Amino acid sequence: MARILITSAIPYINGIKHLGNLVGSQLPADLYARFMRGRGHEVLFLCATDEHGTPAELAAAKAGKPVEEFCAGMHAVQKGIADGFRLSFDHFGRSSSRRNHRLTQHFAGKLAENGLIAEVSEKQVFSVTDNRFLPDRYIEGTCPNCGYDRARGDQCENCTKQLDPTDLINPRSAISGSTDLEVRETKHLYLRQSALRDRLEAWIDSKTDWPVLTTSIARKWLNDGEGLQDRGITRDLFWGVPVRKGDQPWPGMEGKVFYVWFDAPIEYIACAAEWADANGLADADWERWWRTDKGAADVRYVQFMGKDNVPFHTLSFPATIMGSGEPWKLVDYIKSFNYLNYDGGQFSTSQGRGVFMDQALSILPPDYWRWWLLSHAPENADSEFTWENFQASVNKDLADVLGNLVSRVTKFAASKLGDTVPAGGAFGPQETALIADLGARVRDYETLMEAMDIRKAAAELRGIWVAGNEYLQAAAPWSALKTDPARAEAIVRLSLNLIRVYAILSRPFIPDAAATMMAAMGSADWTWPDHIGGALRVLPAGHAFTVPENLFRKITDDERADWQQRFSGVRG
Ligand code: 2FM
Ligand code: ZN
Repeated sequence: MARILITSAIPYINGIKHLGNLVGSQLPADLYARFMRGRGHEVLFLCATDEHGTPAELAAAKAGKPVEEFCAGMHAVQKGIADGFRLSFDHFGRSSSRRNHRLTQHFAGKLAENGLIAEVSEKQVFSVTDNRFLPDRYIEGTCPNCGYDRARGDQCENCTKQLDPTDLINPRSAISGSTDLEVRETKHLYLRQSALRDRLEAWIDSKTDWPVLTTSIARKWLNDGEGLQDRGITRDLFWGVPVRKGDQPWPGMEGKVFYVWFDAPIEYIACAAEWADANGLADADWERWWRTDKGAADVRYVQFMGKDNVPFHTLSFPATIMGSGEPWKLVDYIKSFNYLNYDGGQFSTSQGRGVFMDQALSILPPDYWRWWLLSHAPENADSEFTWENFQASVNKDLADVLGNLVSRVTKFAASKLGDTVPAGGAFGPQETALIADLGARVRDYETLMEAMDIRKAAAELRGIWVAGNEYLQAAAPWSALKTDPARAEAIVRLSLNLIRVYAILSRPFIPDAAATMMAAMGSADWTWPDHIGGALRVLPAGHAFTVPENLFRKITDDERADWQQRFSGVRG
Protein backbone atom coordinates (compact mmCIF):
# COMPACT_ATOMS: atom_id res chain seq x y z
CA MET A 1 0.00 0.00 0.00
CA ALA A 2 1.39 3.37 -1.03
CA ARG A 3 0.74 6.82 0.43
CA ILE A 4 -0.38 9.43 -2.05
CA LEU A 5 -0.77 13.14 -1.38
CA ILE A 6 -2.99 14.85 -3.95
CA THR A 7 -3.70 18.55 -4.29
CA SER A 8 -5.85 20.44 -6.75
CA ALA A 9 -5.08 24.06 -7.62
CA ILE A 10 -7.02 26.07 -5.10
CA PRO A 11 -9.83 28.12 -6.69
CA TYR A 12 -10.03 31.86 -6.17
CA ILE A 13 -12.63 32.92 -3.67
CA ASN A 14 -14.09 35.75 -5.73
CA GLY A 15 -16.59 33.82 -7.79
CA ILE A 16 -18.08 30.51 -8.78
CA LYS A 17 -15.93 28.54 -11.20
CA HIS A 18 -17.03 27.36 -14.63
CA LEU A 19 -16.78 23.84 -15.98
CA GLY A 20 -13.48 24.64 -17.69
CA ASN A 21 -11.93 25.42 -14.31
CA LEU A 22 -13.44 22.27 -12.83
CA VAL A 23 -12.05 19.92 -15.45
CA GLY A 24 -8.63 21.58 -15.28
CA SER A 25 -7.91 20.75 -11.66
CA GLN A 26 -10.45 19.67 -9.05
CA LEU A 27 -12.27 17.03 -11.05
CA PRO A 28 -9.28 15.08 -12.42
CA ALA A 29 -7.68 15.29 -8.97
CA ASP A 30 -10.84 13.74 -7.53
CA LEU A 31 -10.81 11.02 -10.18
CA TYR A 32 -7.25 10.12 -9.27
CA ALA A 33 -7.93 10.25 -5.52
CA ARG A 34 -10.96 8.00 -5.85
CA PHE A 35 -9.07 5.55 -8.05
CA MET A 36 -6.13 5.34 -5.68
CA ARG A 37 -8.42 4.87 -2.67
CA GLY A 38 -10.29 2.21 -4.64
CA ARG A 39 -7.01 0.37 -5.17
CA GLY A 40 -6.50 0.35 -1.42
CA HIS A 41 -3.84 3.05 -1.15
CA GLU A 42 -3.72 5.65 1.63
CA VAL A 43 -4.68 8.98 0.12
CA LEU A 44 -4.73 12.54 1.47
CA PHE A 45 -6.63 14.73 -0.99
CA LEU A 46 -6.60 18.45 -0.27
CA CYS A 47 -8.08 21.58 -1.76
CA ALA A 48 -8.95 25.02 -0.41
CA THR A 49 -10.12 28.45 -1.41
CA ASP A 50 -7.52 30.99 -2.49
CA GLU A 51 -8.76 33.99 -0.55
CA HIS A 52 -6.28 36.83 -0.75
CA GLY A 53 -5.45 39.52 -3.25
CA THR A 54 -7.09 42.53 -4.84
CA PRO A 55 -9.82 40.55 -6.68
CA ALA A 56 -11.12 39.24 -3.35
CA GLU A 57 -11.13 42.76 -1.86
CA LEU A 58 -12.91 44.18 -4.88
CA ALA A 59 -15.47 41.36 -5.06
CA ALA A 60 -16.25 41.91 -1.39
CA ALA A 61 -16.63 45.65 -1.95
CA LYS A 62 -18.95 44.97 -4.87
CA ALA A 63 -21.02 42.65 -2.70
CA GLY A 64 -21.09 45.38 -0.03
CA LYS A 65 -19.55 43.10 2.59
CA PRO A 66 -16.45 43.18 4.77
CA VAL A 67 -13.88 41.02 3.04
CA GLU A 68 -13.70 38.47 5.90
CA GLU A 69 -17.45 37.98 5.76
CA PHE A 70 -17.46 37.78 1.97
CA CYS A 71 -14.74 35.12 2.00
CA ALA A 72 -16.41 33.06 4.70
CA GLY A 73 -19.65 33.11 2.74
CA MET A 74 -18.04 32.26 -0.58
CA HIS A 75 -16.00 29.49 1.00
CA ALA A 76 -19.23 27.89 2.19
CA VAL A 77 -20.77 28.33 -1.27
CA GLN A 78 -17.78 26.74 -2.99
CA LYS A 79 -17.73 23.92 -0.45
CA GLY A 80 -21.40 23.21 -1.17
CA ILE A 81 -20.78 23.10 -4.90
CA ALA A 82 -17.74 20.86 -4.47
CA ASP A 83 -19.91 18.47 -2.45
CA GLY A 84 -22.52 18.70 -5.20
CA PHE A 85 -19.94 17.42 -7.70
CA ARG A 86 -18.90 14.73 -5.17
CA LEU A 87 -15.35 16.07 -4.95
CA SER A 88 -13.97 13.85 -2.23
CA PHE A 89 -11.53 16.22 -0.53
CA ASP A 90 -10.26 15.02 2.81
CA HIS A 91 -10.25 18.69 3.67
CA PHE A 92 -11.37 21.85 1.90
CA GLY A 93 -9.33 24.53 3.61
CA ARG A 94 -8.91 28.28 3.42
CA SER A 95 -5.75 30.16 2.53
CA SER A 96 -6.83 32.80 5.06
CA SER A 97 -6.52 30.27 7.91
CA ARG A 98 -4.33 30.88 10.96
CA ARG A 99 -2.28 27.89 9.87
CA ASN A 100 -1.51 29.46 6.52
CA HIS A 101 -0.71 32.83 8.04
CA ARG A 102 1.84 31.26 10.34
CA LEU A 103 3.37 28.96 7.73
CA THR A 104 3.64 31.74 5.15
CA GLN A 105 5.40 33.96 7.68
CA HIS A 106 7.59 31.02 8.65
CA PHE A 107 8.69 30.41 5.05
CA ALA A 108 9.40 34.11 4.51
CA GLY A 109 11.53 34.12 7.66
CA LYS A 110 13.51 31.08 6.54
CA LEU A 111 14.04 32.51 3.06
CA ALA A 112 15.32 35.73 4.61
CA GLU A 113 17.66 33.81 6.92
CA ASN A 114 19.05 32.04 3.87
CA GLY A 115 19.72 35.29 2.03
CA LEU A 116 17.01 34.71 -0.54
CA ILE A 117 14.92 37.81 0.14
CA ALA A 118 15.86 41.23 -1.19
CA GLU A 119 14.28 44.46 0.04
CA VAL A 120 13.63 46.75 -2.88
CA SER A 121 12.36 50.33 -2.93
CA GLU A 122 10.16 51.16 -5.87
CA LYS A 123 7.81 53.82 -7.07
CA GLN A 124 4.16 52.95 -7.34
CA VAL A 125 0.92 54.72 -8.10
CA PHE A 126 -1.02 55.70 -4.97
CA SER A 127 -4.67 56.71 -5.11
CA VAL A 128 -5.28 59.39 -2.51
CA THR A 129 -9.07 59.00 -2.71
CA ASP A 130 -8.93 55.22 -2.31
CA ASN A 131 -6.13 55.54 0.25
CA ARG A 132 -4.21 52.68 -1.33
CA PHE A 133 -1.53 51.77 -3.79
CA LEU A 134 -3.02 50.56 -7.05
CA PRO A 135 -1.84 47.42 -8.81
CA ASP A 136 -1.06 48.16 -12.46
CA ARG A 137 -4.23 46.62 -13.73
CA TYR A 138 -6.36 48.82 -11.51
CA ILE A 139 -5.19 51.96 -13.22
CA GLU A 140 -7.10 52.91 -16.35
CA GLY A 141 -6.54 55.58 -18.94
CA THR A 142 -6.13 56.32 -22.62
CA CYS A 143 -3.75 54.12 -24.60
CA PRO A 144 -0.83 56.14 -26.02
CA ASN A 145 -0.66 53.68 -28.91
CA CYS A 146 -4.24 53.41 -30.19
CA GLY A 147 -6.22 55.94 -28.21
CA TYR A 148 -8.52 53.35 -26.59
CA ASP A 149 -9.87 55.11 -23.50
CA ARG A 150 -10.12 52.11 -21.18
CA ALA A 151 -6.59 50.75 -21.43
CA ARG A 152 -5.23 49.18 -18.23
CA GLY A 153 -1.94 50.03 -16.60
CA ASP A 154 -0.43 46.68 -17.59
CA GLN A 155 -1.81 46.28 -21.09
CA CYS A 156 -4.17 47.79 -23.64
CA GLU A 157 -7.01 45.37 -24.27
CA ASN A 158 -7.70 46.98 -27.64
CA CYS A 159 -4.28 46.89 -29.31
CA THR A 160 -2.63 44.41 -26.85
CA LYS A 161 0.37 46.69 -26.27
CA GLN A 162 2.13 46.05 -22.97
CA LEU A 163 2.06 49.23 -20.92
CA ASP A 164 3.39 50.78 -17.76
CA PRO A 165 0.88 52.75 -15.70
CA THR A 166 2.91 55.91 -16.35
CA ASP A 167 2.37 55.47 -20.13
CA LEU A 168 -1.37 56.06 -19.76
CA ILE A 169 -2.86 59.38 -20.77
CA ASN A 170 -5.30 60.74 -18.17
CA PRO A 171 -4.81 57.88 -15.73
CA ARG A 172 -7.54 57.16 -13.17
CA SER A 173 -8.25 54.60 -10.48
CA ALA A 174 -10.28 51.66 -11.79
CA ILE A 175 -11.67 51.28 -8.28
CA SER A 176 -13.15 54.75 -7.73
CA GLY A 177 -12.48 56.54 -11.01
CA SER A 178 -10.50 59.13 -9.07
CA THR A 179 -7.74 60.99 -10.90
CA ASP A 180 -6.10 62.08 -7.64
CA LEU A 181 -3.12 59.80 -8.17
CA GLU A 182 0.45 60.22 -6.96
CA VAL A 183 3.61 58.24 -7.54
CA ARG A 184 4.96 57.28 -4.12
CA GLU A 185 7.94 55.34 -2.92
CA THR A 186 7.21 51.96 -1.32
CA LYS A 187 9.36 49.06 -0.18
CA HIS A 188 8.78 45.46 -1.24
CA LEU A 189 10.30 42.06 -0.65
CA TYR A 190 11.59 40.07 -3.61
CA LEU A 191 12.17 36.35 -3.66
CA ARG A 192 15.57 35.78 -5.24
CA GLN A 193 14.46 32.94 -7.49
CA SER A 194 17.39 33.60 -9.79
CA ALA A 195 19.74 32.35 -7.07
CA LEU A 196 17.97 29.00 -7.23
CA ARG A 197 17.86 28.75 -11.00
CA ASP A 198 20.39 25.94 -11.36
CA ARG A 199 18.81 23.83 -8.64
CA LEU A 200 15.39 24.33 -10.19
CA GLU A 201 16.64 23.44 -13.64
CA ALA A 202 18.34 20.27 -12.42
CA TRP A 203 15.16 19.31 -10.61
CA ILE A 204 12.95 19.89 -13.70
CA ASP A 205 15.47 17.96 -15.82
CA SER A 206 15.14 15.02 -13.47
CA LYS A 207 11.37 14.84 -14.12
CA THR A 208 11.57 12.84 -17.30
CA ASP A 209 8.15 11.25 -16.81
CA TRP A 210 6.23 14.53 -16.51
CA PRO A 211 3.69 15.56 -19.15
CA VAL A 212 5.30 17.62 -21.90
CA LEU A 213 2.78 20.37 -21.24
CA THR A 214 4.18 20.74 -17.73
CA THR A 215 7.89 20.60 -18.49
CA SER A 216 7.71 22.73 -21.64
CA ILE A 217 6.10 25.58 -19.72
CA ALA A 218 8.62 25.25 -16.91
CA ARG A 219 11.56 25.26 -19.35
CA LYS A 220 10.19 28.23 -21.22
CA TRP A 221 10.16 30.25 -18.02
CA LEU A 222 13.56 29.01 -16.95
CA ASN A 223 15.17 29.86 -20.24
CA ASP A 224 13.38 33.03 -21.23
CA GLY A 225 14.73 34.56 -18.09
CA GLU A 226 11.19 35.88 -17.57
CA GLY A 227 10.04 33.45 -14.96
CA LEU A 228 13.18 33.46 -12.99
CA GLN A 229 13.47 37.11 -12.55
CA ASP A 230 13.33 37.82 -8.85
CA ARG A 231 9.72 38.15 -7.95
CA GLY A 232 7.96 40.64 -5.70
CA ILE A 233 6.23 38.72 -2.94
CA THR A 234 4.61 41.58 -1.04
CA ARG A 235 1.81 44.01 -1.78
CA ASP A 236 0.39 47.20 -0.32
CA LEU A 237 -3.01 45.75 0.50
CA PHE A 238 -5.14 45.37 3.60
CA TRP A 239 -6.33 41.83 3.04
CA GLY A 240 -3.74 39.08 3.14
CA VAL A 241 -1.07 37.53 5.32
CA PRO A 242 0.70 40.37 7.17
CA VAL A 243 4.39 40.51 6.36
CA ARG A 244 6.37 39.10 9.27
CA LYS A 245 9.69 37.32 9.56
CA GLY A 246 8.53 34.13 11.21
CA ASP A 247 6.93 35.32 14.45
CA GLN A 248 8.88 38.59 14.47
CA PRO A 249 7.82 41.92 12.96
CA TRP A 250 9.60 42.89 9.72
CA PRO A 251 10.87 46.43 10.14
CA GLY A 252 9.81 48.69 7.30
CA MET A 253 7.13 46.30 6.09
CA GLU A 254 4.35 47.37 8.43
CA GLY A 255 0.91 47.42 6.84
CA LYS A 256 1.93 45.22 3.95
CA VAL A 257 0.84 41.70 3.11
CA PHE A 258 2.35 38.84 1.16
CA TYR A 259 1.38 38.54 -2.51
CA VAL A 260 -1.43 36.06 -3.01
CA TRP A 261 0.73 33.83 -5.22
CA PHE A 262 3.27 33.53 -2.40
CA ASP A 263 0.81 32.32 0.21
CA ALA A 264 -1.56 30.28 -2.02
CA PRO A 265 0.67 27.25 -2.64
CA ILE A 266 1.83 27.29 0.97
CA GLU A 267 -1.83 26.61 1.72
CA TYR A 268 -1.29 23.11 0.29
CA ILE A 269 0.78 22.48 3.40
CA ALA A 270 -1.34 24.55 5.76
CA CYS A 271 -4.41 22.69 4.52
CA ALA A 272 -2.95 19.44 5.78
CA ALA A 273 -2.52 21.09 9.17
CA GLU A 274 -6.11 22.38 9.00
CA TRP A 275 -7.20 18.83 8.16
CA ALA A 276 -5.40 17.53 11.25
CA ASP A 277 -6.92 20.29 13.41
CA ALA A 278 -10.41 19.57 12.09
CA ASN A 279 -10.05 15.88 12.89
CA GLY A 280 -8.49 16.19 16.32
CA LEU A 281 -5.14 14.87 15.06
CA ALA A 282 -1.65 15.84 16.15
CA ASP A 283 0.92 17.79 14.16
CA ALA A 284 2.80 14.56 13.54
CA ASP A 285 -0.24 13.29 11.64
CA TRP A 286 -0.07 15.95 8.97
CA GLU A 287 3.71 16.26 9.03
CA ARG A 288 4.03 12.63 7.94
CA TRP A 289 2.53 13.82 4.63
CA TRP A 290 4.71 16.87 4.22
CA ARG A 291 8.01 16.56 6.08
CA THR A 292 10.52 14.16 4.60
CA ASP A 293 12.20 13.98 8.03
CA LYS A 294 8.90 12.93 9.59
CA GLY A 295 7.71 10.12 7.35
CA ALA A 296 6.90 11.85 4.06
CA ALA A 297 9.93 10.53 2.21
CA ASP A 298 7.85 7.64 0.88
CA VAL A 299 4.81 9.77 0.02
CA ARG A 300 4.07 10.31 -3.66
CA TYR A 301 2.84 13.88 -4.13
CA VAL A 302 0.76 14.66 -7.22
CA GLN A 303 -0.59 18.10 -8.17
CA PHE A 304 -3.37 18.92 -10.66
CA MET A 305 -3.76 22.29 -12.36
CA GLY A 306 -4.54 24.28 -15.50
CA LYS A 307 -1.59 25.31 -17.69
CA ASP A 308 -1.74 28.94 -16.53
CA ASN A 309 -0.77 27.76 -13.05
CA VAL A 310 2.25 25.71 -14.12
CA PRO A 311 5.00 28.36 -13.71
CA PHE A 312 4.03 28.94 -10.08
CA HIS A 313 4.10 25.24 -9.31
CA THR A 314 7.21 24.27 -11.26
CA LEU A 315 9.34 27.25 -10.26
CA SER A 316 8.05 29.68 -7.65
CA PHE A 317 6.65 27.27 -5.08
CA PRO A 318 9.58 24.85 -5.43
CA ALA A 319 11.86 27.88 -4.98
CA THR A 320 10.07 28.64 -1.72
CA ILE A 321 10.47 25.06 -0.54
CA MET A 322 14.08 24.60 -1.65
CA GLY A 323 15.03 28.03 -0.38
CA SER A 324 13.65 27.31 3.08
CA GLY A 325 16.44 24.78 3.57
CA GLU A 326 13.94 22.64 5.46
CA PRO A 327 12.89 19.09 4.57
CA TRP A 328 9.48 19.81 3.05
CA LYS A 329 8.16 17.51 0.38
CA LEU A 330 8.58 18.62 -3.23
CA VAL A 331 5.97 17.61 -5.78
CA ASP A 332 6.62 14.28 -7.54
CA TYR A 333 4.29 14.68 -10.49
CA ILE A 334 2.39 17.61 -12.00
CA LYS A 335 -0.59 16.82 -14.19
CA SER A 336 -1.53 19.97 -16.09
CA PHE A 337 -4.37 20.72 -18.47
CA ASN A 338 -5.08 22.82 -21.51
CA TYR A 339 -8.28 24.83 -21.71
CA LEU A 340 -11.82 23.73 -22.26
CA ASN A 341 -13.61 26.03 -24.67
CA TYR A 342 -17.33 26.58 -24.77
CA ASP A 343 -19.54 26.21 -27.82
CA GLY A 344 -17.44 27.97 -30.43
CA GLY A 345 -15.72 30.42 -28.08
CA GLN A 346 -14.22 30.63 -24.64
CA PHE A 347 -15.73 30.26 -21.23
CA SER A 348 -15.77 33.74 -19.80
CA THR A 349 -16.18 34.51 -16.14
CA SER A 350 -16.51 38.23 -16.77
CA GLN A 351 -19.11 37.83 -19.51
CA GLY A 352 -20.85 34.91 -17.85
CA ARG A 353 -20.41 32.83 -20.97
CA GLY A 354 -20.62 29.08 -20.53
CA VAL A 355 -21.87 26.84 -17.76
CA PHE A 356 -20.83 27.59 -14.20
CA MET A 357 -20.61 24.89 -11.56
CA ASP A 358 -23.77 25.88 -9.71
CA GLN A 359 -25.76 26.14 -12.93
CA ALA A 360 -24.59 22.75 -14.13
CA LEU A 361 -25.86 21.09 -10.96
CA SER A 362 -29.17 22.91 -11.23
CA ILE A 363 -29.95 21.16 -14.52
CA LEU A 364 -28.43 17.69 -14.22
CA PRO A 365 -26.90 15.44 -11.53
CA PRO A 366 -23.11 15.43 -11.09
CA ASP A 367 -22.37 12.12 -12.83
CA TYR A 368 -23.57 13.43 -16.18
CA TRP A 369 -21.07 16.31 -15.99
CA ARG A 370 -18.28 14.26 -14.50
CA TRP A 371 -18.52 11.71 -17.26
CA TRP A 372 -18.56 14.19 -20.11
CA LEU A 373 -15.87 16.44 -18.66
CA LEU A 374 -13.46 13.66 -17.77
CA SER A 375 -13.97 11.72 -21.01
CA HIS A 376 -13.22 14.96 -22.90
CA ALA A 377 -10.53 16.35 -20.60
CA PRO A 378 -8.28 18.88 -22.39
CA GLU A 379 -5.13 16.85 -21.92
CA ASN A 380 -3.11 17.09 -25.11
CA ALA A 381 -4.86 20.07 -26.62
CA ASP A 382 -7.67 22.46 -25.80
CA SER A 383 -11.04 20.75 -26.09
CA GLU A 384 -14.50 22.10 -26.62
CA PHE A 385 -17.80 21.69 -24.87
CA THR A 386 -20.76 21.62 -27.23
CA TRP A 387 -24.29 20.77 -26.23
CA GLU A 388 -24.59 18.34 -29.14
CA ASN A 389 -21.55 16.43 -28.01
CA PHE A 390 -22.69 16.50 -24.38
CA GLN A 391 -26.12 15.17 -25.32
CA ALA A 392 -24.68 12.45 -27.55
CA SER A 393 -22.15 11.33 -24.98
CA VAL A 394 -24.64 11.18 -22.10
CA ASN A 395 -27.31 9.47 -24.16
CA LYS A 396 -24.98 6.90 -25.70
CA ASP A 397 -22.34 6.11 -23.11
CA LEU A 398 -24.33 6.52 -19.94
CA ALA A 399 -27.93 5.78 -20.91
CA ASP A 400 -27.61 3.33 -23.83
CA VAL A 401 -24.51 1.46 -22.78
CA LEU A 402 -24.22 1.37 -18.99
CA GLY A 403 -27.75 2.30 -17.90
CA ASN A 404 -29.34 -0.05 -20.35
CA LEU A 405 -27.18 -2.99 -19.32
CA VAL A 406 -28.04 -2.55 -15.65
CA SER A 407 -31.70 -2.16 -16.35
CA ARG A 408 -31.96 -5.07 -18.78
CA VAL A 409 -30.17 -7.49 -16.50
CA THR A 410 -31.96 -6.59 -13.28
CA LYS A 411 -35.43 -6.38 -14.83
CA PHE A 412 -35.08 -9.65 -16.67
CA ALA A 413 -33.63 -11.41 -13.64
CA ALA A 414 -36.26 -10.11 -11.24
CA SER A 415 -39.21 -10.83 -13.53
CA LYS A 416 -38.15 -14.27 -14.76
CA LEU A 417 -35.89 -15.74 -12.10
CA GLY A 418 -36.82 -14.07 -8.82
CA ASP A 419 -35.16 -11.50 -6.60
CA THR A 420 -32.03 -13.42 -5.66
CA VAL A 421 -28.95 -14.43 -7.64
CA PRO A 422 -29.96 -17.64 -9.45
CA ALA A 423 -28.06 -20.87 -8.74
CA GLY A 424 -28.40 -22.92 -11.90
CA GLY A 425 -25.83 -23.88 -14.52
CA ALA A 426 -22.13 -23.25 -14.72
CA PHE A 427 -19.99 -20.69 -16.52
CA GLY A 428 -19.13 -21.89 -20.04
CA PRO A 429 -16.98 -20.75 -22.97
CA GLN A 430 -18.79 -17.41 -23.38
CA GLU A 431 -18.13 -16.53 -19.74
CA THR A 432 -14.52 -17.68 -20.00
CA ALA A 433 -14.03 -15.46 -23.04
CA LEU A 434 -15.65 -12.50 -21.31
CA ILE A 435 -13.49 -12.98 -18.22
CA ALA A 436 -10.32 -13.09 -20.34
CA ASP A 437 -11.37 -10.00 -22.27
CA LEU A 438 -12.30 -8.07 -19.14
CA GLY A 439 -9.14 -9.16 -17.38
CA ALA A 440 -7.02 -7.58 -20.11
CA ARG A 441 -9.20 -4.49 -20.28
CA VAL A 442 -9.15 -3.90 -16.55
CA ARG A 443 -5.34 -4.13 -16.45
CA ASP A 444 -5.24 -1.60 -19.28
CA TYR A 445 -7.68 0.65 -17.43
CA GLU A 446 -5.51 0.47 -14.31
CA THR A 447 -2.40 1.37 -16.26
CA LEU A 448 -4.11 4.35 -17.86
CA MET A 449 -5.54 5.57 -14.57
CA GLU A 450 -2.19 5.21 -12.83
CA ALA A 451 -0.65 7.27 -15.62
CA MET A 452 -3.49 9.83 -15.34
CA ASP A 453 -4.20 9.31 -19.02
CA ILE A 454 -7.76 10.35 -18.42
CA ARG A 455 -9.44 10.35 -21.82
CA LYS A 456 -7.98 6.99 -22.70
CA ALA A 457 -8.98 5.61 -19.31
CA ALA A 458 -12.55 6.81 -19.89
CA ALA A 459 -12.54 5.17 -23.32
CA GLU A 460 -11.33 1.92 -21.78
CA LEU A 461 -13.99 2.05 -19.09
CA ARG A 462 -16.59 2.56 -21.79
CA GLY A 463 -15.06 -0.43 -23.62
CA ILE A 464 -15.51 -2.48 -20.46
CA TRP A 465 -19.20 -1.52 -20.34
CA VAL A 466 -19.61 -2.32 -24.04
CA ALA A 467 -18.01 -5.74 -23.55
CA GLY A 468 -20.68 -6.54 -20.96
CA ASN A 469 -23.44 -5.46 -23.30
CA GLU A 470 -22.05 -7.53 -26.13
CA TYR A 471 -21.76 -10.53 -23.88
CA LEU A 472 -25.37 -10.16 -22.78
CA GLN A 473 -26.56 -9.72 -26.33
CA ALA A 474 -24.69 -12.80 -27.53
CA ALA A 475 -25.50 -14.98 -24.52
CA ALA A 476 -29.19 -13.95 -24.77
CA PRO A 477 -30.55 -15.32 -21.48
CA TRP A 478 -34.10 -14.54 -22.68
CA SER A 479 -33.67 -17.17 -25.44
CA ALA A 480 -31.81 -19.62 -23.24
CA LEU A 481 -34.60 -19.46 -20.71
CA LYS A 482 -36.92 -21.27 -23.15
CA THR A 483 -34.53 -24.08 -24.05
CA ASP A 484 -32.04 -24.37 -21.19
CA PRO A 485 -33.16 -22.54 -18.02
CA ALA A 486 -30.00 -23.49 -16.09
CA ARG A 487 -27.94 -21.77 -18.78
CA ALA A 488 -30.09 -18.63 -18.42
CA GLU A 489 -29.45 -18.71 -14.68
CA ALA A 490 -25.68 -18.90 -15.16
CA ILE A 491 -25.76 -15.94 -17.54
CA VAL A 492 -27.85 -13.88 -15.13
CA ARG A 493 -25.62 -14.82 -12.19
CA LEU A 494 -22.59 -13.58 -14.07
CA SER A 495 -24.40 -10.45 -15.26
CA LEU A 496 -25.53 -9.45 -11.77
CA ASN A 497 -21.97 -9.90 -10.59
CA LEU A 498 -20.84 -7.80 -13.51
CA ILE A 499 -22.96 -4.92 -12.25
CA ARG A 500 -21.14 -4.98 -8.92
CA VAL A 501 -17.75 -5.08 -10.63
CA TYR A 502 -18.80 -2.21 -12.91
CA ALA A 503 -19.80 -0.20 -9.85
CA ILE A 504 -16.27 -0.53 -8.47
CA LEU A 505 -14.53 0.25 -11.76
CA SER A 506 -16.83 3.17 -12.60
CA ARG A 507 -16.87 4.77 -9.16
CA PRO A 508 -14.01 7.24 -9.80
CA PHE A 509 -15.92 8.67 -12.78
CA ILE A 510 -19.56 8.37 -11.73
CA PRO A 511 -19.73 7.86 -7.96
CA ASP A 512 -23.49 8.27 -7.56
CA ALA A 513 -24.42 5.74 -10.22
CA ALA A 514 -21.79 3.40 -8.78
CA ALA A 515 -23.38 3.67 -5.33
CA THR A 516 -26.83 2.96 -6.80
CA MET A 517 -25.51 -0.10 -8.63
CA MET A 518 -23.72 -1.43 -5.57
CA ALA A 519 -26.77 -0.87 -3.36
CA ALA A 520 -29.03 -2.61 -5.89
CA MET A 521 -26.69 -5.60 -5.77
CA GLY A 522 -27.18 -5.67 -2.01
CA SER A 523 -23.44 -5.39 -1.45
CA ALA A 524 -20.93 -3.04 0.16
CA ASP A 525 -17.89 -4.94 -1.03
CA TRP A 526 -15.85 -2.39 -2.96
CA THR A 527 -12.70 -4.52 -3.09
CA TRP A 528 -10.86 -3.80 -6.32
CA PRO A 529 -11.27 -6.66 -8.87
CA ASP A 530 -7.63 -7.76 -9.06
CA HIS A 531 -8.89 -11.09 -10.38
CA ILE A 532 -11.94 -10.70 -12.56
CA GLY A 533 -12.82 -14.38 -12.46
CA GLY A 534 -13.05 -14.30 -8.68
CA ALA A 535 -14.74 -10.90 -8.59
CA LEU A 536 -17.51 -12.21 -10.85
CA ARG A 537 -18.35 -14.87 -8.28
CA VAL A 538 -18.57 -12.63 -5.22
CA LEU A 539 -22.39 -12.45 -5.19
CA PRO A 540 -23.35 -16.07 -4.47
CA ALA A 541 -26.47 -17.92 -5.51
CA GLY A 542 -29.36 -16.91 -3.27
CA HIS A 543 -27.99 -13.40 -2.62
CA ALA A 544 -30.78 -10.80 -2.78
CA PHE A 545 -30.69 -7.90 -5.22
CA THR A 546 -33.12 -5.19 -6.28
CA VAL A 547 -33.94 -3.43 -9.53
CA PRO A 548 -32.54 0.12 -9.28
CA GLU A 549 -34.21 3.28 -10.52
CA ASN A 550 -33.17 4.20 -14.03
CA LEU A 551 -29.49 5.15 -13.70
CA PHE A 552 -29.42 7.79 -16.41
CA ARG A 553 -32.09 9.57 -18.36
CA LYS A 554 -31.63 10.82 -21.87
CA ILE A 555 -31.24 14.48 -22.73
CA THR A 556 -33.96 15.51 -25.19
CA ASP A 557 -33.42 17.77 -28.19
CA ASP A 558 -35.68 20.39 -26.64
CA GLU A 559 -33.63 20.49 -23.46
CA ARG A 560 -30.45 20.75 -25.44
CA ALA A 561 -31.75 23.69 -27.44
CA ASP A 562 -33.08 25.38 -24.33
CA TRP A 563 -29.79 25.06 -22.43
CA GLN A 564 -27.76 26.16 -25.42
CA GLN A 565 -29.80 29.32 -25.51
CA ARG A 566 -29.79 29.86 -21.76
CA PHE A 567 -26.01 29.68 -21.30
CA SER A 568 -24.92 31.61 -24.35
CA GLY A 569 -24.98 35.02 -22.82
CA VAL A 570 -24.61 37.11 -19.79
CA ARG A 571 -24.97 35.48 -16.42
CA GLY A 572 -27.81 37.07 -14.50
O1 2FM B 1 -5.87 29.89 -10.84
C1 2FM B 1 -6.36 29.88 -9.74
O2 2FM B 1 -7.57 29.69 -9.55
C2 2FM B 1 -5.47 30.07 -8.53
N1 2FM B 1 -6.27 30.47 -7.41
C3 2FM B 1 -4.74 28.79 -8.26
C4 2FM B 1 -3.83 28.80 -7.11
S1 2FM B 1 -3.12 27.28 -6.95
C5 2FM B 1 -2.06 27.38 -5.70
F1 2FM B 1 -0.93 27.74 -5.92
F2 2FM B 1 -2.49 27.57 -4.59
ZN1 ZN C 1 -4.08 50.47 -27.34
